[in-house]
Amino acid sequence: MGETVKLIIEGKTIELPVLTGTEGEKAIDISRLRELTGYITLDPGMANSGSCTSSITFMDGEKGILRYRGIPVEELAEQSTFVETAYLLVKGRLPTKKQLNRFSISLNDNSLVHEDMQFFYQNFPRASHPMGILSSMVNALRSFYPELEGLSQTEEINMTVTRLLSKLRTLAAMSYKISRGHKVIYPRPDMCYCSNFLNMMFDTPVRPYEIDDDLVQALNVFWILHGDHEQNCSTSTVRVVGSARVNLYAAISAGIAALWGPLHGGANQAVITMLEEIHSSGSDVTPFLKRARDKNDPFRLMGFGHRIYKTHDPRGKIIKSVCDRVLKKLRRHDPLLDIAQKLEEVALKDPYFIDHHLYPNVDFYSGIVLRALGIPTNMFTVMFAIGRLPGWVAQWKESTEDVNWKLHRPRQIYTGPSETAYVPIDKRKNTI
Ligand code: ACO
Repeated sequence: MGETVKLIIEGKTIELPVLTGTEGEKAIDISRLRELTGYITLDPGMANSGSCTSSITFMDGEKGILRYRGIPVEELAEQSTFVETAYLLVKGRLPTKKQLNRFSISLNDNSLVHEDMQFFYQNFPRASHPMGILSSMVNALRSFYPELEGLSQTEEINMTVTRLLSKLRTLAAMSYKISRGHKVIYPRPDMCYCSNFLNMMFDTPVRPYEIDDDLVQALNVFWILHGDHEQNCSTSTVRVVGSARVNLYAAISAGIAALWGPLHGGANQAVITMLEEIHSSGSDVTPFLKRARDKNDPFRLMGFGHRIYKTHDPRGKIIKSVCDRVLKKLRRHDPLLDIAQKLEEVALKDPYFIDHHLYPNVDFYSGIVLRALGIPTNMFTVMFAIGRLPGWVAQWKESTEDVNWKLHRPRQIYTGPSETAYVPIDKRKNTI
């Protein structure tokens, strides 16, 4: 037996195996704990529990490290494209030129969505949030693209993955066009993934969209930075839902719903709302910081803090430099950027934020980049979802290939009443 730890429970000593990851992280394997002792562990929010082993993404929250398949995110942001990074995440290695070319062609070939799906959009109330629409549309994809006969399971999965990666982007752009009452713009074979998205969003029959390579590059970086983030809330959701052996579309649809929350992907929208509020109240950040420090006030500084990072989020640093580059290129001044910089400067010196290890996360500056690209605020989390899709897919695939793949079914400690007799309705006392 390798390394173990001893646990003494009610005078009985048991040994539990220790697992060590490639970066030296350690875990106590408690999979036989209940069988051996009758005890379970309790870990609200799963902050101390590993739900799986994974070879996709490594992050070190104390040192601010993030790597996909071993490659630092900084290097990918500098040298890769979103499509290449998606390939890396999903297939586990960087593609050769030929593989990348073939992958790009298959994404292009699958970029159209069934024409009837347009009618779905018409029936959502006008004020519907795009994340709710996107989650429903992705679930609906399964009905339009059922399993193909004659394909092996691997071919079937590869086809579904390609469809999802390509069509999510089309569905997102379509939802924007339809919400504005504009003509839907189709994907074009002569454009790369990111240019195609911008073109589908902003091209109109009366004003052709001019592709700007710097903005395309900014979008590539934005999506690369969101590619994967190990077992976060939405990824865990994809794994949990996937463990019931649902189809990939349904699992991704659930992941999108989880990402929508303001404590998770919805934070990029919440940051802009907060910065706008500060702006309209006179741009003084002091009262907002005071509120964030107040235990009795539910207000939190959006875009600050992270469950894993207890130092600077490495993605935050990169997105901040993208933000500077994009605004410079567009020769645009965004007053919200001034407020964000002020907020960051003051918060990083504030004892509350220092003591709580609260640093800006990826969402803090990403909203300003998206605004500069022309993306409306309510689409910000949709942008996050497109970026995170390769990670969700990679994690889902890994879980299905895991020999220990099990239905996800945690236990609990029950704290309700002990056995209680049923009282017939005419004998119940009015308790109000
Ligand atoms: N502003 C003020 N106080 C904060 C903040 C914040 N943004 N974040 C955490 N805290 C405080 C909490 O009040 C708590 O204080 P206490 O210990 O004195 O009671 C302490 O820090 C720990 O907070 P938790 O919520 O327990 O920490 P957790 O690890 O669960 O939180 C989270 C992580 C949810 C991201 C949190 O920092 C937060 O709400 N941030 C704002 C929302 C946000 O930016 N989310 C995006 C995350 S990144 C992503 O998903 C892409």
